Amino acid sequence: MDNRPIGLLDSGLGGLSVVKKVIKKLPNESTIFIGDNAHMPYGNRTKEDIINLTRKSVKFLLNNDVKLVIIACNTATAAAMDTIEKEIDPQVIGVIQSGALAAARTTKNKKVAVVATSVTIASHAYEKEIHFRDPEIKVTELAAPKLAPLVEAQEDHATNLRVVKESLAPLQGKDFDTLVLGCTHYPLIKREFTEAVDDPKVTILDPADQVAQYTFNVMRRDGLFSEERHKAVHKYYTTGNPDNFDKLARTFMDDDTLTSEHVDTEN
Ligand code: SIN
Repeated sequence: MDNRPIGLLDSGLGGLSVVKKVIKKLPNESTIFIGDNAHMPYGNRTKEDIINLTRKSVKFLLNNDVKLVIIACNTATAAAMDTIEKEIDPQVIGVIQSGALAAARTTKNKKVAVVATSVTIASHAYEKEIHFRDPEIKVTELAAPKLAPLVEAQEDHATNLRVVKESLAPLQGKDFDTLVLGCTHYPLIKREFTEAVDDPKVTILDPADQVAQYTFNVMRRDGLFSEERHKAVHKYYTTGNPDNFDKLARTFMDDDTLTSEHVDTEN
C-alpha cells in the first residue's frame, strides 16, 4: 500500500483530460497535476527544450513525493519520455503507447488517422507504436499546430469549430474509421472534433481511457494502490496564471471549487 499521490504533468491545460480519467478509474488515489502554461505550446519547440522543460516539471512532482509520474502530454512523451525514465526512480507512464494500443484495437478497416502537434507527428511515434501492434494498419498523420493553443485561448464554440475544421481539412477523402486525438488538449474540445468530422462511422479516440487502465495495471503489479480508507486529495499547479487555469479547469473537471496555485519551476 502506498498513499503517496500520482504525479501528472503537461505543457498546459490538456493534461486535465488524463487527470479526469485517472481520477475516475482510481477514485481512491490522490493526484498532483502541473501544467506548464508559461511555456506552452511545446508542440513546435526543439527536443532539447522539451526535455529541459519536462525535467523541471518532473522535479517539482518528485519534490512532492509522487509514487509515479504520468507524462500527460503527447509532445513531451514523444520528445522526453526516453530520457526522463532513465533519470528517475518512480515508474514513468506516457500517453502514446496507450493511444496506439487503443487505436489498433478500435480500427475495423485498418485505417487510422492521428492528429497531433508538429513535434509528435515528426517523431512518427504513433505510427511506429501502431505498426508494432499491427503492421497492416495504414496510419495517416496530420500536424495541427493551431489546436493546442486554441484550447488554451478558451475561445467560443464557433471559433473552435472553425479552426478544428480548417485543421482537419487535409484528412478529407481519407477512408479512416478511427481518429486518434494525439494531443491531450484535444479532448477538451472533443465536441468540436465530433462536429467537424461529422461521420458516425469514425471513432474519435481519446487515449486517456487506455492511459488510466494502464496506470491501474502498473499500480496493481507494483503494489502501489493507496489504502482503502485513504481520502483522495487532488492538487493543481500552473506555471502560468491560476485564474485562467481555473476558468477552464472548473468547467472541464465539473468542480466549481477547483483552485490551482502558481508555481515557478525555474528555481
Ligand atoms: C503542446 O504543448 O503543444 C501540446 C501538448 C501535447 O502534445 O499534448
